[in-house]
Amino acid sequence: MLTKKPIPFLDLVLSISEATDLIDSELNNHNKRVAFTSLNIADSLGFPNNFKYNLIIAGLLHDIGSFSLKERHETLDYNYRPEHPTNNHSYIGYILLKDFNPLAEIASIVKYHHHFWKDIEDLELPETLKLSAQIIHIADRIDVLIDKNRDVLSQVNDICHTIKKGSRVRYKPDIIKEIINLKNKEYFWLDATSQPEISTFTDKLGYLPLDFEIDIIDKFANMFSHIIDFRSPFTATHSSGVTATAEFLARAMDFSDNEAFMMKIAGYLHDLGKLAVPSEILDKAAGLNNEEFRIIRSHTYHTYRILENITNLEIINSWAAFHHETLDGNGYPFHLTESELSLGSKIMAVSDIFTAITEDRPYRKGMNKKDSLKVLNNMVKNNKIDSNIVAKVTENFNEISEERKKSESRAKKYYKEYRSIFEGQPT
Ligand SMILES: [Fe+2]
Ligand SMILES: [Fe+2]
Ligand SMILES: [Fe+2]
Repeated sequence: MLTKKPIPFLDLVLSISEATDLIDSELNNHNKRVAFTSLNIADSLGFPNNFKYNLIIAGLLHDIGSFSLKERHETLDYNYRPEHPTNNHSYIGYILLKDFNPLAEIASIVKYHHHFWKDIEDLELPETLKLSAQIIHIADRIDVLIDKNRDVLSQVNDICHTIKKGSRVRYKPDIIKEIINLKNKEYFWLDATSQPEISTFTDKLGYLPLDFEIDIIDKFANMFSHIIDFRSPFTATHSSGVTATAEFLARAMDFSDNEAFMMKIAGYLHDLGKLAVPSEILDKAAGLNNEEFRIIRSHTYHTYRILENITNLEIINSWAAFHHETLDGNGYPFHLTESELSLGSKIMAVSDIFTAITEDRPYRKGMNKKDSLKVLNNMVKNNKIDSNIVAKVTENFNEISEERKKSESRAKKYYKEYRSIFEGQPT
């Protein structure tokens, strides 16, 4: 049942950040290591906890705007520098995070995480922002310079030499001075190649000021639904449609207000695992090969694994992550059966299918009422989805469609604004 207990925000961000690194095995927890190295630099410089807290979150999310394998790969080159001021992952990350108030400051850090020091030094920005962006920038470049297949300590001299050459132009000189001070401290370099856990961060910080009250988790989830959907123009409004449908059906199936609220969050997050799928695959309307098909299908597995360790999100997770399970046990990835699936999970499955077939996609029109009900009823006949829920869809088809369209057109407006930032620019 829904509680008013806070959601452990750092846990949630950490899990999401792990998922975005799954798009390429070479990244191997890049985000977490950048967060850890940044924390160690800030520690060494004696910064207070709230500074460090923002730095960790920014470190974990710094590449959240990078959707494609191609761009993630490019950033692994030490000399990577965004070519365009707005059409690059730091700016996209900033745009996606900035409207969610608790992350506004973090969004700005993300925006500047590839900026050279000489380019931000004289900008009228808060000093803490410039410092944070620089620390992430340096931690990020250190991670790229380390060859993970070799002993890190034997590489320290070369890394420090390279970093030092960037002092003043690329990097803020006093931070580089601190890195050079850390040259002989083995822990710093061994930490930089470790696999940090949540406790790595929480133990160092103690009290965490930013845990979420349940009341704003829907706004967080809504923001994330855009990060999930905007990865591909084909699905730019999909989660919004699923959310509106699932919330409507939850009420129609006599869920309480609290439960309908939970359903809304589950709807926004149902495709969260797509963060682990590169946009190159999501952008293929057809013609996926077997491997690509398997990668896409694994998104619900990732949704489940991302959310499973988050306290107070257990029920929401089960509603979100089981939307490709079917009553006959032939769904994926857990092959749960009718008795193992809760009503909430069954509602999400119907909402996902309903939305997918009725919404317009850039490459095809949505189905009309008659055809979509035929599809849903066939699935009932084949013991795939729940008959009572489909009966509610049949009863309320026009109203649900209205709600779904309203919600998707809101998301479409936001998507258009987002795309307009890049209009006329190479993509
Ligand atoms: Fe980056
Ligand atoms: Fe990075
Ligand atoms: Fe899905």
